[in-house]
Amino acid sequence: MSDSLQISQAVSVLRRGDLVAMPTETVYGLGADASNAKAVKKIYQLKGRPANHPLIVHVQAPPTDSKQKEEDWLAILSPWARHIPESAIVLIQHFWPGPLTLVFQKSKLVLDCVTGGQETVALRSPSHPLAQNLLRVFGGGIAAPSANRFGRISPTSASHVRADFIVNSDLFILDGGDCQFGIESTILDVSTEGAPRLLRPGTITPQQIKERTGIDIVNGTNTSDSPRVSGSLKAHYAPHTPLHLYKGNQWMAQLKKLEQDGLLAKRTAIVLWEMEKFNPALLPHDTAKQIDYIFLPQDSYRFAQGLYRLLRDLDQSNYRSIYMPTPPDGEDWDAVRDRLQRASFGSGPSSSSHMSS
Ligand code: TXA
Ligand code: MG
Repeated sequence: MSDSLQISQAVSVLRRGDLVAMPTETVYGLGADASNAKAVKKIYQLKGRPANHPLIVHVQAPPTDSKQKEEDWLAILSPWARHIPESAIVLIQHFWPGPLTLVFQKSKLVLDCVTGGQETVALRSPSHPLAQNLLRVFGGGIAAPSANRFGRISPTSASHVRADFIVNSDLFILDGGDCQFGIESTILDVSTEGAPRLLRPGTITPQQIKERTGIDIVNGTNTSDSPRVSGSLKAHYAPHTPLHLYKGNQWMAQLKKLEQDGLLAKRTAIVLWEMEKFNPALLPHDTAKQIDYIFLPQDSYRFAQGLYRLLRDLDQSNYRSIYMPTPPDGEDWDAVRDRLQRASFGSGPSSSSHMSS
């Protein structure tokens, strides 16, 4: 189907109050008309997400040839945000459209079901061309969380969305190929006085923001008033197969431990950094059959790009457990370290029991 036909169909689906799964440059979103409460409620039902977890409203970007970008952005944001601080305008001019979500004080018009009853609203203008086309033709805001079941791994392709919502086979999925970044947007809170606060790390790091705009970002990920960022639940992005993180490059030690614990005979996936010196002669003798080694680049951008696909693929391969290296220190790795730690904490067949923590 051509892109323009897909877009017109998606727009009719949104207008009649149904859901559209849409590609973005981060992960796929499960979208509804943000001004239609009935439609927004369908997102919570389909995802199985608690009603007090707020959604991001996706907005279109001004035309690229616009001469008055700042005024155009203000016009786009004004139906949603009550107050737009100077720092937000600078951030928008540097990073929108793109993988950055900003939390503003909300305008009166924003529905409670979008904000989870809070006084703030999260807004983002995605850079994926199909998402921008959809927003432009639709002409309104699209509320969309990631298009996965609550607590599970976010989708980075149309087939991931299909796999999660197979029982709801009438869900309209706009296929925009594989996502460019592969993990969710960076979230900054600009709703209070003072420096923007980082609520969720993503591909855009505080250091990049500082370098490009001079704006200092403070860490807001550990404050007790941000439990409504569902990605901040200790268990999230989680596979059904138990996922363990081992220290840095100590995969041999991990393997020895499996041997000592008598677990070598179980089907296991061990993920290693590509540059590890891998010498099969050093391995315990009977490991070959049951253990699969997967090599990943030690490059945070490429690692993020393939992370959710890898977790989904491994989860479907009937391993007894999966071992992955803890990413290196440093801000570039904060987002993937954060996702991996939550995925590990929430992993395993009874993962839903961790969800409320
Ligand atoms: O990259 C992304 O951000 C993707 C794509 C689809 O845009 N969306 C996404 O949505 O990750 P979701 O719902 O899975 O995560 C959005 C996060 C949630 O943790 C939510 O709690 C937080 O944004 N959030 C939304 N509104 C907020 C608000 N008013 N204050 C604080 N956090 C908010
Ligand atoms: Mg999500």
